Amino acid sequence: MRLLKILFLFVVFQASAQQGGMWIPSLLEGMNEDEMQNLGSKLTAQDIYDVNHSSLKDAIGHFNGGCTSEVISDQGLVLTNHHCGYGQIQSHSSLENDYLKDGFWAMNLEEELPNNSLFIEFIVSIHDVSEVVLKGITDTMTETEKQSLISKNSNAAMKTWPRESWQDVKTKAFYEGNQYFLFVTERFDDIRLVGAPPSSIGKFGSDTDNWVFPRHTGDFSLFRIYADANNRPAKYSKDNKPYKPKHFLPISLDGVEEGDFTMVFGFPGTTSEYLPAVAIEHITKDYNPTNIAIREAALKVIDQKMKESDAVRIKYASKQARIANAWKKWIGENLGIKRSNAVEKRREFEATFTKALKEKGLEDKYGNILPEFDRLYKDFAPINIKRRNFIEVFLVTNELMQMTFRAYQVEQALIANPENLERGKEVLTGQLRGIHKNYDAKLDKGVFENVMKLYQPNNVNSLIYGETAFTNLESALQLLEGDTETVIKNLNNDAAYTYAKPIIEEFFNTIDAEYQQKNAPITALQTQYMTALMEALPNERYFPDANSTLRVTYGQVRGYSPRDAVYYNPVSYLDGVIEKYIPDDYEFDVPQKLIELYEAKDYGQYANKNGKVPVCFLGTNHTTGGNSGSPAIDAHGNLVGLNFDRVWEGTMSDMNYDPEICRNIMVDLRYVLFIVDKYAGAKHLIDEMKLVHPKTDNSKKKKKRNKKKK
Ligand code: ARG
Ligand code: GLU
Repeated sequence: MRLLKILFLFVVFQASAQQGGMWIPSLLEGMNEDEMQNLGSKLTAQDIYDVNHSSLKDAIGHFNGGCTSEVISDQGLVLTNHHCGYGQIQSHSSLENDYLKDGFWAMNLEEELPNNSLFIEFIVSIHDVSEVVLKGITDTMTETEKQSLISKNSNAAMKTWPRESWQDVKTKAFYEGNQYFLFVTERFDDIRLVGAPPSSIGKFGSDTDNWVFPRHTGDFSLFRIYADANNRPAKYSKDNKPYKPKHFLPISLDGVEEGDFTMVFGFPGTTSEYLPAVAIEHITKDYNPTNIAIREAALKVIDQKMKESDAVRIKYASKQARIANAWKKWIGENLGIKRSNAVEKRREFEATFTKALKEKGLEDKYGNILPEFDRLYKDFAPINIKRRNFIEVFLVTNELMQMTFRAYQVEQALIANPENLERGKEVLTGQLRGIHKNYDAKLDKGVFENVMKLYQPNNVNSLIYGETAFTNLESALQLLEGDTETVIKNLNNDAAYTYAKPIIEEFFNTIDAEYQQKNAPITALQTQYMTALMEALPNERYFPDANSTLRVTYGQVRGYSPRDAVYYNPVSYLDGVIEKYIPDDYEFDVPQKLIELYEAKDYGQYANKNGKVPVCFLGTNHTTGGNSGSPAIDAHGNLVGLNFDRVWEGTMSDMNYDPEICRNIMVDLRYVLFIVDKYAGAKHLIDEMKLVHPKTDNSKKKKKRNKKKK
């Protein structure tokens, strides 16, 4: 009886208080629209997504396939994160013009910097094509048969879908393959760098503050979209003109405060919200810890060497950030799952599911799913760990092993067809140059000794560093001289290559093969589980897992309590930047100019009612990687924040969104404008934006109305 009560409570709680979810923008009418308005939104579903008129979605661009960006002027000015534009800012930087360190501001259109292979993609329209794509799929088909029919159907749909000559189409699976949507898109390839703050603002707090609150990072950069004479997508040309968008976001100078509605509109990458308890347990108890250990072993060496030498620090800055980012995220994920009892809660939910199957006579159809998950995961867990550990060592942390891995792939291509020689040389040369651009063999040797110990403890031979040609670019490239036979012979005479080759072969022939074979039935079962959930518990809240398509998530500005007696206020201020200031520190230095502005309280129109400049704020919006650079939009459709991170204990929201502790972190737009205007003196950029005062305007309207009543 008591158990029943608990289960009942759990379900009710899920349905009412839970605000998680990443929703499809074309399907907001009804439940989402109501829920958003209950949270304070004044927007209709059509304000957000409309195919016939311009709407908010027309301002949201997928930035280079991995981040989100938004248009903020009628001249195609675009805002995204500093860490999203990092590669471009770095590529224009040199010792003389160190834009990473000092920042960059184009003072007119001529000074804006073009970027190779950077693109922004907009969504023109979204269509449910489930019926056509799933046509002919039957339960008796094998997984391979199903997949091949699905891709045939979806290719046919894309081929004939109506679109303009400059537009593209793609289809994507939703709800673990239970639904398919088609997207008509427009991709712009002439994107120029307009502005970036120095890293001491854009990356303030670096690793120490990454994934945590309170946060004081001005994580933004500015770009501009250029289009051809007809305002259509075009390759770079100096004759291109600033793009005239269908919609751009006005910026609110009134900001938001605790309890205010916000929505985040962007391109979240991947989530796994419908995993069985056994999978969450596997990931957090066994899988994450091994990968955390490998990264930790690598970071121990990298961090130390970066402290010892400035040259090494510059070389490894970006790589270290990449390794440390997921390392710290996984630790937080484990912590959050444990603290919120996510595994136990998921088991309780599964009991509800099982009970519903019984009640609805669905046991025969779906009753084997959960026991089957248990059986499959038990079998899958060791190989999943082994495979990922290989990737962590060979592709993430150790560069010498990465070079041998790339060389192995080229050797395989040459064995398959000797005519691949030129292309193979070209590809490998590019990869070797890429790695050697920022390479330190001593550091890498230290990493090798530390990480290989965790992968093959009895097979750590760091002597290869003294014998191999790969640790030096010139000698590495010499391995590639000559005909196919010579290249293959050269590689197989190299000490590092002969050391690594059997390990790589084991990976491809045994580990990855076994992984694929054991993962396939899990994927198929996950699809069936999703179907079963929706059938057995139709009143639950189902949103499709993130899949790099455009989504809306919404919530309110809220602080949170990560542990007993600790509460984080939802807003941080410039005062906090100054509190954290450590002169000349790699993470917490503050530019002199910013200190002067702070001391003079020279905040212009960017201060709060209390006379302080807000820097970052928290919300209950359900976000993930890929939401970086996404706009936080207020109740009226104005830009108020720029999403860039989540709080540590809340990173588990990729598997388990918990409204108690899951928060996204946004930069307050007033801090962005303050930096652009007062710090950088780029007033011309402020002038092209549309700054609004929705809160004060509303109160005026209200007063007027009140007067009339009298
Ligand atoms: N944690 C944020 C995101 O996942 C920001 C990462 C960039 N910042 C950094 N210090 N590495 O990607
Ligand atoms: N920083 C992440 C990104 O690059 C967003 C933070 C998150 O994972 O929520 O997309």
